[in-house]
Amino acid sequence: MDNWKFAERYGIKGVGVDLSPYCVADAKRKHQKRVPDARLVFLEMDGADFEPEKPESFDLVACIGASWIYGGHRGTLKALEGMAAQESWIVVGEPYWRQEPEREYLEAIGQERNSFGTHSENAEAGHEFGLEVAYTLVSSQDDWDRYEGLQWYAAEEWASGHAKDPDVKEVLRRVRESKAAYLRWGRETLGWAIYVFKKGAVNTIDGGDLNTLRGRET
Ligand SMILES: C[S@@+](CC[C@H](N)C(=O)[O-])C[C@H]1O[C@@H](n2cnc3c(N)ncnc32)[C@H](O)[C@@H]1O
Repeated sequence: MDNWKFAERYGIKGVGVDLSPYCVADAKRKHQKRVPDARLVFLEMDGADFEPEKPESFDLVACIGASWIYGGHRGTLKALEGMAAQESWIVVGEPYWRQEPEREYLEAIGQERNSFGTHSENAEAGHEFGLEVAYTLVSSQDDWDRYEGLQWYAAEEWASGHAKDPDVKEVLRRVRESKAAYLRWGRETLGWAIYVFKKGAVNTIDGGDLNTLRGRET
């Protein structure tokens, strides 16, 4: 949805998709305020239903932190590859296992071991779709602490100021359960990275190097 940032810096035109009316309204507000002349469109819809006017037409397609829309990391790469031009970039934000998850942690967050890959699995998954990872941006634990901690802080502050709101108890219950799971297991177990893939990268495989590398892992 951060189209307006790209438009501000690089003068792009683009389309942003989100299911949340709040998110779309915020993006439209920032568009008007920051880059009103930029040719940006924001659509409030299920990302799974979005189709570009022309398949394989975008120079850059991104899905940062919403891969469930396409049933996971591989589904996301497949869907985005179908929207991306022959020579283009695909940018995906995805969690990865820093270590093997404990059963209690999986239960607490409602995920399975195969919900996510390791960092190298996430990066190398591009090969299945003809994509070469060209860069990764890996969050530190400080980044995670900030992302998680600001949610605890915001929830506690909001609850104190809205003690009689009918949603207070449910909001605090969810946030505090999620906090406990993060503190007990998540901080050491789950990482987060942004993966930048190149579509149309020069192919060096003739039964050769990348296959050999992959063979060594299994
Ligand atoms: C973790 S946030 C990622 C934010 C986004 N990358 C950005 O830069 O603003 C997940 C976003 O996915 C949106 N979302 C959840 N399910 C969706 C769906 N089925 N289709 C489109 N957007 C969805 C949420 O509303 C939320 O804004």
